[in-house]
Amino acid sequence: MGATVYPVPAQWAENALVDEARYFEMYRQSVEDPEGFWAEHGKRLDWIRPFTKVKNASYNEADFGIRWFEDGTLNLSANCLDRHLAERGDQIAILWEPDSPSTPHREITYRQLHEQVCRFANLLKAQGVKRGERVTIYLPMVPEAAVAMLACARIGAIHSIVFAGFSPDALAGRIVDCDSRIVLTSDEGLRGGKKVPLKANVDEALKQCPGVNSVIVLRHTGADVPMVEGRDVDWASGVAAQSAECAPEEMNAEDPLFILYTSGSTGKPKGVLHTTGGYSVWASMTHQYVFDYRPGQIYWCAADIGWVTGHSYVVYGPLTNGATTVMFEGVPNFPDPSRFWQVVDKFKVEIFYGAPTALRALMREGDDWVKKTSRQSLRLLGSVGEPINPEAWEWYHKVVGDSRCPIVDTWWQTETGGAMITPLPGATPLKPGSASRPFFGVKPALVDNDGNFLEGATDGCLVITDSWPGQMRTVWGDHERFFQTYFSTFKGLYFTGDGCRRDEDGYYWITGRIDDVINVSGHRMGTAEIESALVAHAKVAEAAVVGMPHDIKGQGIYAFVTCNAEVEPDEALRKELIQWVRHEIGPIATPDVIQFAPGLPKTRSGKIMRRILRKIGENDMSNLGDTSTLADPSVVDNLVANRPQLE
Ligand code: WTA
Repeated sequence: MGATVYPVPAQWAENALVDEARYFEMYRQSVEDPEGFWAEHGKRLDWIRPFTKVKNASYNEADFGIRWFEDGTLNLSANCLDRHLAERGDQIAILWEPDSPSTPHREITYRQLHEQVCRFANLLKAQGVKRGERVTIYLPMVPEAAVAMLACARIGAIHSIVFAGFSPDALAGRIVDCDSRIVLTSDEGLRGGKKVPLKANVDEALKQCPGVNSVIVLRHTGADVPMVEGRDVDWASGVAAQSAECAPEEMNAEDPLFILYTSGSTGKPKGVLHTTGGYSVWASMTHQYVFDYRPGQIYWCAADIGWVTGHSYVVYGPLTNGATTVMFEGVPNFPDPSRFWQVVDKFKVEIFYGAPTALRALMREGDDWVKKTSRQSLRLLGSVGEPINPEAWEWYHKVVGDSRCPIVDTWWQTETGGAMITPLPGATPLKPGSASRPFFGVKPALVDNDGNFLEGATDGCLVITDSWPGQMRTVWGDHERFFQTYFSTFKGLYFTGDGCRRDEDGYYWITGRIDDVINVSGHRMGTAEIESALVAHAKVAEAAVVGMPHDIKGQGIYAFVTCNAEVEPDEALRKELIQWVRHEIGPIATPDVIQFAPGLPKTRSGKIMRRILRKIGENDMSNLGDTSTLADPSVVDNLVANRPQLE
C-alpha cells in the first residue's frame, strides 16, 4: 500500500553475515527441519555435556510442555566469560558511562569481569546462596548489576531483577512471590542528576518480607545509609574477602536462569521464567544476526537491565558473542538532549539500539542537538519495545543515522526471550514502522477472534504456532496460569496479546496490544495493576484504567475514578491520587489523566465495558458503539460531557 521501501544498502548486502537469499534459505531450513537447524546452531555455546535431544515441545493441554536441548549441560557465565579469556581477555567487555558526563567512565575487560564475577559468586555462596535459590537484584545501571547477574548464573542461583524505578511495595511483592531471602542493592541510584533512594526503598520493602535475611549493599553515590546489623553486608568489603576463583556450576539446559516480572492483562505481575540452554542460544544467536555483530565492535543497547531487553541485549547476548557492550546509567536528555550522541562519539559506538519513546522525545528537541555530534562511527540502528511510528523512524534514519544506517525494528516480548520478528540488516528491505519478517525458527500467524487462520494481506491477532528455544517455560509458581494466559485463548497456539497486520509482501506490522495491557514509554503495564493501586486509596470506590494516545510515550494512562459517596472529588484529590499511584507502583505508572466519574459503564451483569472507556480515552466519541446493553446508558453521556479537554 505504497509504504516507502528502503533497499538493503549494497555494502550491507555484500558484507553482512546473511543476505536476502541466504535469509530465505536459512529460514526455510529452520521451520522445515527445526531439529536439524537447532542441533547445528545450539553448538554456538560451549556445552559441558553436549545435548543429544533438541526440541521437545507441545502447546496442547494433554501433553503441554516446552523443553529444548534437555539432556545438555552448560554454564552461561562460563559462556559469557571464561571461554573468551584466551582470545580476548584484555578486550573491554563493559564500557560504563555514568549519569553525569563529568564522572569518569569505567572500562572493564573480560579478564577483570571474570574476576569480579568469581569473587561476587563466592560472596553469594558465603551468604548461603544455593543453586536454585532466588536472588533479588534492585540495582541501578552500574557494572555491578551485570556482575551480580553473571555471578548468579555461575553458581546456578536464579536472579530476579526488579527495575530500580519500582516502589518499595512493588519490590516487596516480587520478593515475596519468588520467596527470595537475599536482596542486592546500592545506597542510591542516579538518573538525570536525581538521586533514587534504593537502600531506603529496600528497607521499607523488607518490612513486608520477613523471609529476607541478607542484603548486600553497593556503595555507589556514597550516601550515608543505615546498615542493619546481622543483615546488611557491604559489597566491597564482602567481595575483598573472597577468592578470585569460582568454578562454574554444571547446569542442565532446562534449569531456571532467571525470573523477570512482567504485567499481564489480569492479576498481579507474573514471574516469567527463562531457563539456561534455550534462552542463551536465543539471546546469543539473535544478537549476532540481528545486529550483524562481529567480535570487538562497540555495541550499545540503551535499555535498563530491569527490563528483558537489558537482560538479553545489554548482558547475555553481547557477552556470549565477545562484544564490548556499553552500559549507560543516565537518561537521553541529561545534561542536554545531545547526550546519547555524545556517548556514541565518545566510545565510537557502531551499533545503537534504543526505544521509540526516547527518539520521539529527542526529535521534539530539534535536529541541532543531534547534528552537532559526529556519529560517523554508527553503522546500524535498532528499535525495540513499542511500535515505532513512521515519522520517528524517518527521523532516526535521516537525522541520527545520516541516511546511512539500516534500522532493525525488533518485535519481541519478555516471554519470547529475544527478537522474534525483525529485519536483518543485510537481508531485509526496510519499511518504516514494520518489524518485517520472522527470525529463524519463528512461525508467526494471524488468526481471527475465533482462532481461524487468516491468509495473505490482513489484520489479525498475532500468534506463534510452534516453540522456539528462547521461549519462557512457565510462570514462577503457577504453571496453570502460564498455560491459561498464553495457550488457552487459541488452542495449540502461543498468543502474544498483540494485534498485527501482514502486508502483501508478508511483512508484519504490529499494531499494539489487544488485551488490557498498555505500553507507556516502552514499559508494559497491566491496567488491572493501576486500578488496584487506585482502589487501595481510602477515598476511591472504583477505578478503570485505559490507554490513550500520547505523542512521546506512545500511550498515556487514563484513569476513570469513582469516589466513595461522601467524597467530593477536587483538584487536590486528583493530585493526591497521582502521587498515590507513583508511591504504590513507581513513577512509570503516573496517570496522565484522572477523570472523576459518578459511575462507570457496566453491563447488567456488572462487567465494566472497557471498549467504551477506551474510546473516551482516545477521544473518539463518534465511535462508542452499542451502549444499549449497559445497565445505565446515561453514565456514558456523563463521561463524554466531562472528559477533560486535553491539548
Ligand atoms: C510491544 C519488550 C511494536 C508489543 C521487548 C509487545 C513492540 C510488548 C515492539 C512486549 C516493536 C515490543 N514493535 N511493538 N518493535 N517491541 N513491542 O515484554 O506490544 O516489555 O507485546 O518486551 O511490547 O513488551 P516487553
